[in-house]
Amino acid sequence: MNYNNLILNFENEIAIIKINRPKALNALNKETLEELDLAITDLDKNDKIKTVIISGEGKKAFVAGADISEMKSMNVKEAKDFSLLGNQVFNKIENSTKIFIAAVNGYALGGGCELALACDIRIAAKGAKFGQPEINLGIIPGFGGTQRLTKVIGKSQALELILTGDNIDAEEAKILKLVNQIVEVEDIMEKAKLIAEKIAKKSAPIISTAKEAVNFALEHPSAEGSKFEANLFSTCFSTKDQKEGMQAFLNNRKADFKNE
Ligand code: HXC
Repeated sequence: MNYNNLILNFENEIAIIKINRPKALNALNKETLEELDLAITDLDKNDKIKTVIISGEGKKAFVAGADISEMKSMNVKEAKDFSLLGNQVFNKIENSTKIFIAAVNGYALGGGCELALACDIRIAAKGAKFGQPEINLGIIPGFGGTQRLTKVIGKSQALELILTGDNIDAEEAKILKLVNQIVEVEDIMEKAKLIAEKIAKKSAPIISTAKEAVNFALEHPSAEGSKFEANLFSTCFSTKDQKEGMQAFLNNRKADFKNE
């Protein structure tokens, strides 16, 4: 499949998606979101892939937001459809059986910050900048930012970013737990691949089960979460990989997971 606005590459069990509109700092227009939707739907069905890295093409930006030139003349209905489209795509990332790593190589503003937030793990380049500057455009975040940012950094920190529209640098983002790690920009893909490869060595059904269990914690009270965890924990014992993992430990060797 050829995309106009994405570059998709495969390295063993890792897929790498680059948002490819560097002249517009990788701003997300409708077509890019639709392509991302297709790419993620395809990857979700691909048994060979365990992890997906998302990054931005070019030196400056991960994604500098939704495309302002396209949004400018939207009416209320079109704006709602656009917001719902972005939410649909980012929810697909969040609920995918694959593990998504955002390699934030530069500006992650507005919809770009929201895209990073939908990913499971976020690595930032030293010079990366995060923010929700929508307020300066007379709008609020619309691709899930008011929800995910609040869950990740807490209400008052989220409101400060959303209401001031200020950008923060990677160091501050790390303090706020918005990013997991900071690396030099030239090392970011290598670092993201290292994490992706490490995860890809584990069992596919078990990594997706772990993601499902952790996601559940964000939406449900602890008592329900404990029951949900016990159910998912027990389903691990219906896999060959649980047997292999435990047998390998007892035999003092590395597990050779078959993703079954
Ligand atoms: C459309 C964009 C863009 C965007 C940058 N460009 N961001 N085009 N949508 N979000 C374009 C510029 O118009 C310019 O095009 C080119 O990319 C380079 O950008 P410059 O501004 O010249 O670069 P620089 O001076 O280095 O400033 C970088 C920047 C700035 C700080 C990132 O571009 C910026 O503030 N961008 C907008 C950030 C933003 O407000 N994002 C939130 C959008 S709203 P030309 O043709 O002039 O070279 C949003 C809502 C999501 O995300 C929810 C929707 C439902």
